[in-house]
Amino acid sequence: MRTLQFPLSVFFFSFFAMAQIPSSLNLMPVPAKVQVGSGQLVVDQSFTAVSTSQRDARLDGGIARFLDQVSRQTGMQLNGQSADASNATLVIRAENAGRKVQELGEDESYTLEITPSRATLTAPNALGALHGLQTFLQLIEPTPAGFAVPAITIEDQPRFAWRGLLIDVSRHFIPIEVLKRNLDGMAAVKMNVLHWHLSDDEGFRVESKRFPKLQELGSEGQYYTQSEIRDFVAYARDRGIRVVPEFDMPGHSRSWMAGYPELASVPGSYRAGRIAGADTVMDPTRDGTYKFLDKFIGEMAGLFPDAYFHIGGDEVTNKPWDSNPKIQEFIRAHGMKNNRDLQAYFNQRLQKIVSKHGKIMMGWDEVLHPDLPKTVLVESWRGQDSLAEAARQGHRGLLSYGYYLDLMWPAARHYAVDPMTMTMTKPGAAAALSTEEQKRILGGEACMWSEFVTPETIESRIWPRLAAIAERFWSPQEIRDNQSMYRRLEEVSWRLGWLGLNGVSKYESNYATMLHRLAGSHDIAALRVLADVVEPTKDYTRTEVFPQPPVKSTPLNRLADAARPESTVARQFAELVETYLQSGYKDSAAEAQIRAWLVKWRDNDANLKAVLDRSFLLAEDMPLSEDLATLATAGLEALDNIGKNQPLPDAWRTAQSAVVDRSMKPRANLLVMVAPPIQKLVEATASSH
Ligand code: ACM
Repeated sequence: MRTLQFPLSVFFFSFFAMAQIPSSLNLMPVPAKVQVGSGQLVVDQSFTAVSTSQRDARLDGGIARFLDQVSRQTGMQLNGQSADASNATLVIRAENAGRKVQELGEDESYTLEITPSRATLTAPNALGALHGLQTFLQLIEPTPAGFAVPAITIEDQPRFAWRGLLIDVSRHFIPIEVLKRNLDGMAAVKMNVLHWHLSDDEGFRVESKRFPKLQELGSEGQYYTQSEIRDFVAYARDRGIRVVPEFDMPGHSRSWMAGYPELASVPGSYRAGRIAGADTVMDPTRDGTYKFLDKFIGEMAGLFPDAYFHIGGDEVTNKPWDSNPKIQEFIRAHGMKNNRDLQAYFNQRLQKIVSKHGKIMMGWDEVLHPDLPKTVLVESWRGQDSLAEAARQGHRGLLSYGYYLDLMWPAARHYAVDPMTMTMTKPGAAAALSTEEQKRILGGEACMWSEFVTPETIESRIWPRLAAIAERFWSPQEIRDNQSMYRRLEEVSWRLGWLGLNGVSKYESNYATMLHRLAGSHDIAALRVLADVVEPTKDYTRTEVFPQPPVKSTPLNRLADAARPESTVARQFAELVETYLQSGYKDSAAEAQIRAWLVKWRDNDANLKAVLDRSFLLAEDMPLSEDLATLATAGLEALDNIGKNQPLPDAWRTAQSAVVDRSMKPRANLLVMVAPPIQKLVEATASSH
């Protein structure tokens, strides 16, 4: 800890290793240590930033982007005057440039000191300086005296070294420019690994020069060329982000078989694409499979510079192996007990190949087996227990369970999941690990599986919730206050809009564009009232509607695709109701706001009907709009009754509950999220007299 010119007692009092962050600050993730000073540093057109570090193209590029971002955030062209360490507004010093290929565990710490006259950013490694620049950007606010950052001292470093986001580009192909925008967003919230899920049953997305039929027959023309991949990896490195490729095997591999059916466990012809069909699994008993994988992994090891190589290993279905007598005979002949032993055999051979090509193998938690080499990193998607078990067995690991963005959970639910504990309040299996074993847990990854997203909608599913997960991975474990998180998430959200992330900003996003398309009209006011209070169904319930994940011809252009995963209106309405009820029905300001919302919702259906009638895409939403009006009417009746001496009969409450129940069951893949707080108002009528 650096020496500050404060008496020690003041230092400890004000330099909080923070359980809370002051509400004046919109920092996300919350830094490890913050000390707020007095006064502010003005950010005007004369703002300059210089590096006193050794020349480093990555840091110089980061500073250039930072200045561009300052300009965008303030709407001011900066003068761009030259400056040196003696007169620059912000002086940046990184002691070293970092590894050429970014490594796990490089020092990402930084210290940012801002006084009313200047700012200094120091870091042992350029990575820390890049993070510090993002912190500075989050501090810029308009003030009566102009744009400014507060006088402050921040000493910051991540809690976990591995802070990842998986993006599945197989189920739906996601173009490079969309991925790049998401890298910008990840850098803004200090995430450092993009886990690129590049192959699955539906599509093989990488150009292979040794096995060109992989992309020619496995991608329906949608893949990344090797030069695009090199450019993308460099773009990520510039932002302090590693790119870890995943080629899922032996399961989830139908797209490989389109060009190379000899890899399959069941002879036949295979097609890639979003088509219904049983899972396809590689044949681990043939030497040819390993010869193929040796050449393929050798080629990919040269294309992807990161030290880690993800081989998938999840959800290997039994049927293809069970149905091939040769494979079952191989199991018996080698003294194996079952298919799981066969997968372990496959993984051992695979690990040798991956290692021969200079990479560290990683896989999903199904790869865990007593015979698995301990160097293999295990990524747990099925629960914290398997992560703890992996750590106990000597593996390093990551947690993904609890961070699946495709499940449409609210940010708070992801935020409560911690790699080291079951939830923030319940100790999990990891809590029982020794210190040595706990050290093997390196962090976690959020996952954006793409069965139900398109390039148009993917960002609205990643953002802004990912910022809450980023905070879980970066900030001290004590940072867990949901109210503070949501307050800052809202602020981070519109700021991310400057990066051009679709759907991030409530004010300017593809949300409105999609609503216009649904309505076929410029007038989306009434549709938006409904859209603002619904959420897509949770977990995998959407698959119940589409019995298979959507096939190629299934458009994802419904209200369920436009609606945000978490309704801000519903969350804030629920808070209002809570405030009102806890005040003993005395908070008249809260009551007035509740009433205003309810009146709006009660009257909306009449305005929306004509819009819903006109569009085939919206007809399915008619019952939701009607129920919103019914719920609102019930809420208003409850408000009129609560605290008064006019009991409403039990039969009335029972009738309202039926509407609430219906509203929280999936219809048109949507839930009406204001139903539970309205239910609370309805229930309050039972105790008010
Ligand atoms: C997974 O979700 N099958 C890794």
